[in-house]
Amino acid sequence: GHYDTGGYEHYLLKEISEQPETVARTLSGRLDERFHIAHLGGLNMDARETRSFRRVKIIGCGSAYYSGQIGAQLIEELARIPADAEPASEFRYRNPVVDPDTLYVAISQSGETYDTLAAVQELKRKGGRVIGIVNAVGSAIAREVDGGIYLHAGPEVSVASTKAFTSTAIAFALLALHFGRVHDLSPAEGRRIVDGLAKLPAQIEEILEQGPAIAELSRKYAVHPSMMFVGRVRGYPVAREGAQKLKEISYIHAEAYPASELKHGPLALIGPELPTVAIVPDDELLDKNLTTLGEIRARGGRVLMIGHREPGAKLADDVIVVPRNEIELDPILLTIPLQLLAYHAAVALERDVDKPRNLAKSVTVE
Ligand code: AGP
Repeated sequence: GHYDTGGYEHYLLKEISEQPETVARTLSGRLDERFHIAHLGGLNMDARETRSFRRVKIIGCGSAYYSGQIGAQLIEELARIPADAEPASEFRYRNPVVDPDTLYVAISQSGETYDTLAAVQELKRKGGRVIGIVNAVGSAIAREVDGGIYLHAGPEVSVASTKAFTSTAIAFALLALHFGRVHDLSPAEGRRIVDGLAKLPAQIEEILEQGPAIAELSRKYAVHPSMMFVGRVRGYPVAREGAQKLKEISYIHAEAYPASELKHGPLALIGPELPTVAIVPDDELLDKNLTTLGEIRARGGRVLMIGHREPGAKLADDVIVVPRNEIELDPILLTIPLQLLAYHAAVALERDVDKPRNLAKSVTVE
């Protein structure tokens, strides 16, 4: 057909593999290397209006929500505007206070998710200003919002979202850069982010080249019925998305926790039968994360670390090293190996990779 697996065994592997190109498309025409800003004409917002928001509230469902959590952190870090993400389904049912100084951002790959659409409609009824980060052009959510950013990632067929997740995180980096540069992000800092974004396609390619090694690790870990995923701050939404991908397509039970919360409960689960995937970027929280790895290992827990270097002192059984970018952008790259990990686990367990049981590509019902 007009859109087929292009020689790949599954749509999912095709969609994971095409991310260097889809990311380049999300960035295309939007990076200004002269003024170190982002061009986001679709927002339909002048500088004065862009400066007027005091908060950002992000809503979406499932993986869209997790990418929104990455987005909230990017906006807080780069623009210093308070931002947070919430499942659209929760938001719409709790009779939210709609604040005129808040910019609402709705995320949806399909643009047809009913809970997200209903949340947008509720916001609009109450006079909220809503923009969208959407992949499907002309979809219901795209038509309902006041403006936004299209991902241009192309059709996503496999039920598990991969390239749309990555492009959404990148759209948020562009939005955060845009907001930052009308606030206090300096030209030099803007340049650091512009240069970091421009490097992403080649760095994703480097991670994809590790496919065979990651497949081997998947086969090793897929014998366990359950896995723990942990990360701190920037690593936490990455852990949540990694757990989501694994449970969705391999049916292995996976739980994501902030690494800092382990000792407040779930550490009781840790032992040789429950391995942990730990997201450990080389940021200011590295030492804290290494301490957590030590605590897991001391209880006989196996550790698969995703990070920027070998941790030393045998703190991990296995390590997947990803290229470094700017620390704010690292979550984008740290997610890619988790997509491959889930994919190869699903293949090893002979699951229906592109159409997992009980799930629909877009949830158009309540
Ligand atoms: C992702 O792997 C899931 N299939 C699911 O969580 C999805 O992200 C969610 O249903 C939202 O879909 P949307 O982006 O099309 O609104």
